[in-house]
Amino acid sequence: MRIIRAKDYSDMSRKAANILSAQVIMQPDAVLGCATGGTPVGIYRQLIEWYQRGDLDFSEVTTVNLDEYRGISRESEQSYWHFMHSNFFDHVNIAPERIHLPEGSNLNAQEVCRAYTEMIRSVGGIDLQLLGIGTDGHIGFNEPNTVFEMDTHCVDLTESTVEANKRFFARKEDVPRQAYTMGIRDIMQARRVLMVASGADKAKIVRQAFFGPVTPAVPASILQIHPDFTLIVDQEAAAEI
Ligand code: PGA
Repeated sequence: MRIIRAKDYSDMSRKAANILSAQVIMQPDAVLGCATGGTPVGIYRQLIEWYQRGDLDFSEVTTVNLDEYRGISRESEQSYWHFMHSNFFDHVNIAPERIHLPEGSNLNAQEVCRAYTEMIRSVGGIDLQLLGIGTDGHIGFNEPNTVFEMDTHCVDLTESTVEANKRFFARKEDVPRQAYTMGIRDIMQARRVLMVASGADKAKIVRQAFFGPVTPAVPASILQIHPDFTLIVDQEAAAEI
């Protein structure tokens, strides 16, 4: 585990974007594991800027997103499909056929999860997985649990996740209660993992996840045993470590 301390949100975003862009420069056909949420937005903004300057080329890149709400269509503004397109994909030259997110509008969980697991295998696994961390320690939508769920699966979102995500919806009641998410094995099999954490409300969970025991009660803690895991924290998120 490698911890990089950043001054603030923009410093954290630039440092993470540097690592992602180095991956794409070194390996133009890299498979990037993408994350949604507020934290990665600055990273995507930076990558778009470098792309527009001609420093980056995503034409051979494949992307695999961590998760998607269940029961929401791609066209919905709250879908992660929409989030990824408006914050990143629409602004760079990623080939549409190489963009992957779980099919949120398909309610057949078994079918969606099996197809996603197969897709990850068929693209050769993930080279660099970007992650945020939930205040409850979730990664993707792997919520605190008594076991680590291995494969892509359907989850019931915890109250704290619904609470945290309501800012993206008109009303809390509109937040979907279920999601499809890559499992812990899918994430742990990524060759490199890069997590970003920013802000005072992440300080406690950063300490618990990376300076406490490895436990499914804090899903992110499993990353302590990943062979190539980098955490970039800004000053506020690093306050307790
Ligand atoms: P956030 O979400 O970046 O919006 O804080 C992180 C997460 O839930 O993984």
